Amino acid sequence: MPELVVVGAGGFGREVLDVVDAIGPDSWQVVGVVDDGPTEKNLELLARRDVAYLGTLESLLAQRDAGSVTASHYVVGIGSPAVRRAVAERLDAAGLQPATLVHPTVTTGFDVTVGPGSVVCAGVRLTTNIRLGRHVHLNLNTTVGHDTVIGDYVSANPLASISGDCVLEDEVLVGVAGVVLNGLTVGRGSVVGGSACVVKDVPPGVVVKGIPAR
Ligand SMILES: CC(C)(COP(=O)(O)OP(=O)(O)OC[C@H]1O[C@@H](n2cnc3c(N)ncnc32)[C@H](O)[C@@H]1OP(=O)(O)O)[C@@H](O)C(=O)NCCC(=O)NCCS
Repeated sequence: MPELVVVGAGGFGREVLDVVDAIGPDSWQVVGVVDDGPTEKNLELLARRDVAYLGTLESLLAQRDAGSVTASHYVVGIGSPAVRRAVAERLDAAGLQPATLVHPTVTTGFDVTVGPGSVVCAGVRLTTNIRLGRHVHLNLNTTVGHDTVIGDYVSANPLASISGDCVLEDEVLVGVAGVVLNGLTVGRGSVVGGSACVVKDVPPGVVVKGIPAR
């Protein structure tokens, strides 16, 4: 069974542990969680579920070099797309493999591809002919419609609704319950606020909010 390290002891990192638990005990062996600055509370919550804290990212890599940690795979449980990219690039360079985690309650239609490192949480609905890039996070109950392309390091928070024929470029974040109407593109690195409704293309690098989102 491959050994897995989860990066991030915060709320989403621990929700990723729930996804691993739901996938079942025969798929992954969680060796522990890495975090560069865990709070006391998060360390306590990890201990309560009997998951080891392995130290910082750099100390994980030192432990791997020394042979005391042998994990082959990692997943980044950090919501920020930019931080997730930086962590993933560091671990890829060190030779770890990204794990792809799909909760068993997720439904997918015909021809859906999920990129390495992605985490698809409970209740997500992916219809047909959909592409998810690397290290995408689709949080609880997100829906994605037909023919939509989601780039690398995109985060969709709970209840986000991405319609058909949309493009979410790399590092887009869609806030909780954000809606993107069909056929629209959200440009690289842009943020769609919680409960916003995107009704026209969003350029790269901006924050939009409200209904209609602007
Ligand atoms: C939109 C968002 C990215 C912040 O954008 P921001 O421009 O930095 O917002 P600020 O906090 O500085 O607030 C600026 C104004 O926008 C308003 N605002 C903030 N978020 C808003 C939202 N989602 N919808 C509508 N208005 C919003 C604020 O009330 C404030 O209004 P005011 O100037 O009249 O007082 C953020 O509020 C958001 O919605 N993030 C998503 C969070 C999320 O998904 N959380 C769930 C995690 S699982």
